[in-house]
Amino acid sequence: MAKKIVILNGSPRKGGNTAHLIDAFTKGAERAGNTVVRFDLQGMNIRPCLGCCRGGKDEASPCVQKDDMGKIYPAYREADVVVLASPLYYWNVSGQLKCAFDRLFAVAECDANYNNPVKESVLLMAAEGFEFEEAEYWYDRLMSHLGWTSLGKVLAGGVMEAGAIEGSPKLKEAEALGEKL
Ligand SMILES: Cc1cc2nc3c(=O)[nH]c(=O)nc-3n(C[C@H](O)[C@H](O)[C@H](O)COP(=O)(O)O)c2cc1C
Repeated sequence: MAKKIVILNGSPRKGGNTAHLIDAFTKGAERAGNTVVRFDLQGMNIRPCLGCCRGGKDEASPCVQKDDMGKIYPAYREADVVVLASPLYYWNVSGQLKCAFDRLFAVAECDANYNNPVKESVLLMAAEGFEFEEAEYWYDRLMSHLGWTSLGKVLAGGVMEAGAIEGSPKLKEAEALGEKL
């Protein structure tokens, strides 16, 4: 069955390695009939969570802060699959991705028990080195805490300059993952 996919792109680099992974994944996912909505977080006005815990009063606009998260909330609500895409920054996901993800708490606040909507997820990452352990640990624990199911990870190490990933088998891996969702 076709799925609705939301991609949160935490890389600030246009044409960067994360973007290449996303393009390959999207190619596979769309070929299989899925719909993909992508948010390039760097170009969006997304402020950090204020920790006010006063959200969740309006399902259509759950956060007290009115910024570009307003574009993400409806897509997130409808999504079957949430793709977390990021460069490895200091052995974790980028601030752009974490900042947006924290703001999804406002959606959980709509539930009396603060339950997050249950999703499937994918992790796409690029890095100069190959030490993804800390980022994987964060992602794996997040999946467990939220009750989400991970459909797979593509971790592309050895790529520093934007576009260095071109020709890498990791792009085929991302495309195949997108196609088999
Ligand atoms: C602020 C910053 C922190 C980084 N930290 C790491 C790191 O901890 N480990 C690593 O292997 N590469 C690190 N890198 C390299 C990037 O992960 C790598 O260049 C990656 O391909 C960038 O993806 P992009 O092209 O999508 O932006 C860092 C780069 C920057 C700018």
